Amino acid sequence: MPIKLDYNNMLRPRLGDGRGIDPERLGALAERFRRIHADVESRRDGGDLGFYQLPYASEVVDAIEQFAQGPGQAFSNLVVLGIGGSALGTVALRTALLDPFWNELDDEGREFYPRLYVVDNPDPATFAALLRRIDVRKTLFNVVSKSGGTAETMSQLLIVRQKLEEVIGGEGYRRHLLFTTDPSAGVLRRLAEEEDIAALAVPPNVGGRFSVLSAVGLLPAAMAGIDIQQLLEGARAMDARCRTDELLQNPAGVYAALQYLADTELAAPIHVMMPYSDPLRDVADWFRQLWAESLGKQTSRSGEEIFVGPTPVKALGATDQHSQVQLYIEGPFDKTITFLIEQERAEDISIPSLYPDVPELGYLGGHTLAELLRIEKEATEAALTQRGRMNMTIELPRIDAHAVGELLFMLQVATVYAGGFYDVNPLDQPGVELGKQLTYGIMGRSGFESARAEWESREAKREEWQV
Ligand code: PA5
Repeated sequence: MPIKLDYNNMLRPRLGDGRGIDPERLGALAERFRRIHADVESRRDGGDLGFYQLPYASEVVDAIEQFAQGPGQAFSNLVVLGIGGSALGTVALRTALLDPFWNELDDEGREFYPRLYVVDNPDPATFAALLRRIDVRKTLFNVVSKSGGTAETMSQLLIVRQKLEEVIGGEGYRRHLLFTTDPSAGVLRRLAEEEDIAALAVPPNVGGRFSVLSAVGLLPAAMAGIDIQQLLEGARAMDARCRTDELLQNPAGVYAALQYLADTELAAPIHVMMPYSDPLRDVADWFRQLWAESLGKQTSRSGEEIFVGPTPVKALGATDQHSQVQLYIEGPFDKTITFLIEQERAEDISIPSLYPDVPELGYLGGHTLAELLRIEKEATEAALTQRGRMNMTIELPRIDAHAVGELLFMLQVATVYAGGFYDVNPLDQPGVELGKQLTYGIMGRSGFESARAEWESREAKREEWQV
């Protein structure tokens, strides 16, 4: 069964009182969507949108599986060093498809697959603790950087490389490194060639936040035993559903169009993604980057200044009922809520019928935790709807590699369509690059002196406005 998008509660007939999107406004986007779809299809054929090819790259999958089942088997720990798009997809796959306490399971519990750590932030508190915790002799460090230049990841690589040399000595460190990077450009590729370090390629036309289904996400997933063939099969199934240029038949198109209308016509730029599912919680985190970095732009595709972009927010049900939902139900009408739910849970726990005479406890007996979560989601949805708050639900039949592949692919395609509606390039990130250049300049990297000078001249003007 395919994943389903129920958007009744985004629309005016359900919300009433002039709230929500008028279905006619959605219908009115059909022609515009046809043009966006044609443009996306032609850029896809022209090789501009490389992520579309990833579910069909069977030779890459074979190479990954060979590594995972061959040399990869020798390690008890896999540590991914990467940040942003080079980390968030792997985290989303890990949380969705591995046991929640994966790294605490013994070898047998993990079926002898390695523990999986993803270290994105270069905070010494975490990194030092990890290096104390793991035995580097039993560890493979997968250094993931498309550009091969990101300061956070390169710093971690240098630290690890030195540690490996100290512990293993000689040339042995090379066997503990695996680079995932551009096929020809960047320092990681050069080091891989010069030092004979294993390396996998991220296609040049695939950017970080669209790379989860490339070697970036697939290698760690395969090494931890996730069925990457099913993941890609799910992505292909969603791709097939998105080939139509009929807006109302195309799930990614409907998703993008609704969010775009909510933002631009109903002043609701805040887009909350709220899984009622622990396994999907990091999909919301991955999506937050995808949506923000792709759509938050200063200029349109033709170079006009437009300063657009919806603000994605992640939440978790039921936890955030006790934190955020008050704001969502009674605060400003500036949000949409997208629930993620699974129809059938892999596991459930019955709530025992104890204390039948205690009203606060008795009613819970005989239900299950899965039922409780589902009813809480339904109750939150009903409360939002009663108060005229736009919300919709993406339902997965169950959480498995196929459904997760469908979901991730749908959200990537929706992001590209949304780029069309906002008239921005969803593939670049000039703001992120600016921050990277300033970091390089301030840290003293040669070639970035002017970024440093700009920073210094601003710093010189800093007044004592502090308490
Ligand atoms: O999506 C993106 O392009 C960014 O978030 C990058 O993934 C992030 O900045 C890391 O870049 P790199 O993979 O080049 O180290």
